[in-house]
Amino acid sequence: MPLSHEEQELRHAEEIAVAPLYALDSGRIPRHTLPEDEMSPDVAYQIIHDELMLDGNARLNVATFVTTWMEPQAERLMGECLDKNMIDKDEYPQTAAIETRCVNILADLWHAPDAGAATGCSTTGSSEAAMLGGLALKRRWRAQRLADGMPADKPNIVMGTNVQVCWEKFANYWDVEMRLVPMEGDRFHLSPEEAVARCDENTIGVFAVLGSTFDGSYEPVADICAALDAFEQESGIDVPVHVDGASGGMVAPFVDPDLVWDFRLPRVTSINTSGHKYGLVYPGVGWIVWRDAEALPEELIFRVNYLGDTMPTFALNFSRPGAQVVAQYYNFLRLGFEGYRRVQQYARDVATGLAAQLDDLGPFDLVTRGDELPVFAVALKPEVDNYTVFDLSLALRERGWQVPAYTFPENRTDLAVLRVVVRRGFTHDMADLLIADVKRQLKRLERQPAPTHDAASATGFAH
Ligand SMILES: Cc1ncc(COP(=O)(O)O)c(C=O)c1O
Repeated sequence: MPLSHEEQELRHAEEIAVAPLYALDSGRIPRHTLPEDEMSPDVAYQIIHDELMLDGNARLNVATFVTTWMEPQAERLMGECLDKNMIDKDEYPQTAAIETRCVNILADLWHAPDAGAATGCSTTGSSEAAMLGGLALKRRWRAQRLADGMPADKPNIVMGTNVQVCWEKFANYWDVEMRLVPMEGDRFHLSPEEAVARCDENTIGVFAVLGSTFDGSYEPVADICAALDAFEQESGIDVPVHVDGASGGMVAPFVDPDLVWDFRLPRVTSINTSGHKYGLVYPGVGWIVWRDAEALPEELIFRVNYLGDTMPTFALNFSRPGAQVVAQYYNFLRLGFEGYRRVQQYARDVATGLAAQLDDLGPFDLVTRGDELPVFAVALKPEVDNYTVFDLSLALRERGWQVPAYTFPENRTDLAVLRVVVRRGFTHDMADLLIADVKRQLKRLERQPAPTHDAASATGFAH
């Protein structure tokens, strides 16, 4: 999305030298305009391949929640489906059937009342799913307000300030007032009391996150629903809940089966997840499921007939790759419930083990321990004043580790943390290697007289 990358552009020469390294062609080609003529595919490949070597190593990236390793068989299937457009449901009926099957599997996993009749779809990720979930809530609220003869021009949503930026985008793009619950002391996410305190007749929904992008903690979905039940009894206002299970939607069912956070709670209207996070698929797929057909207003569904048959769609885009959806089904089929449980439990074991090892080193305070999402945040003890988490983050980059450092939002901007996301493919052995590098870098940092980097100078990391 290069809207404007001026600074980066300036660093590049205007032309790329193509010789004699690549042997086949020689000369120079323009970098920012279309080359005049063709070149051999080998040279084109080599030029781009070489430039991309400067990208980080995805497996050493503990900043991302997104899958960085899949089995070769899944990769082969994805290769076979690269040319399939997900929207061409009539041309690729089996890919379409697989998408529906995945929706049914998720609806069942999340205890929808009638999983076979589940309503949902694949998306490009949780962000698109958030837009669809939010829009459905807005339209439901509006229809009810108009039916009651009430104004419907001031919708609001209630959520913690820790929500991922997609929810702020939703509010911004669809003109919905954001009622953000700030962090307070050691409360880093939404609480039932604070959520209810901001609800009124214009609230289209409360968004609860399983788990928070900032620290991997689960928000108390069941308690939020219970508080909203009490609120409804007092006020008569029925506020639905959407669960952003971007990561937790594919973690909790397997390793926290007793945690009630999903459609078992009647107030939960819709749930999204990122297939490309703990769904274990490479980037490009998300999912949203509504508890039943009534939860998704019919007026949002478009029926197009120019692809060969009349197809219902609810999406922000049209064409989209089919490969990721097929890869999602591969994982469901290949791993089954027990396989997913093993993968997620292993990630949790690595995360909790790594957090405990960091805790033992001395200078760190754990904000979370990796025992909800396999993700944890760690701060430096207040008495450490000669280096920062930003210094350590940059020091770890020397060996290729990408461990983001950032400050928490409003009310806790004083809290600067490192965050580690453990995913499939990050092994106990890699965790030990990371700890060894942390120890090595701490020795050096402990000797430096004063911090070198702060939030402003360190990284461009953003949620
Ligand atoms: C809680 C939460 N919601 C939504 C998103 C956005 O997800 P996606 O990248 O799939 O659009 C993220 C991404 O990290 C997230 O952590």
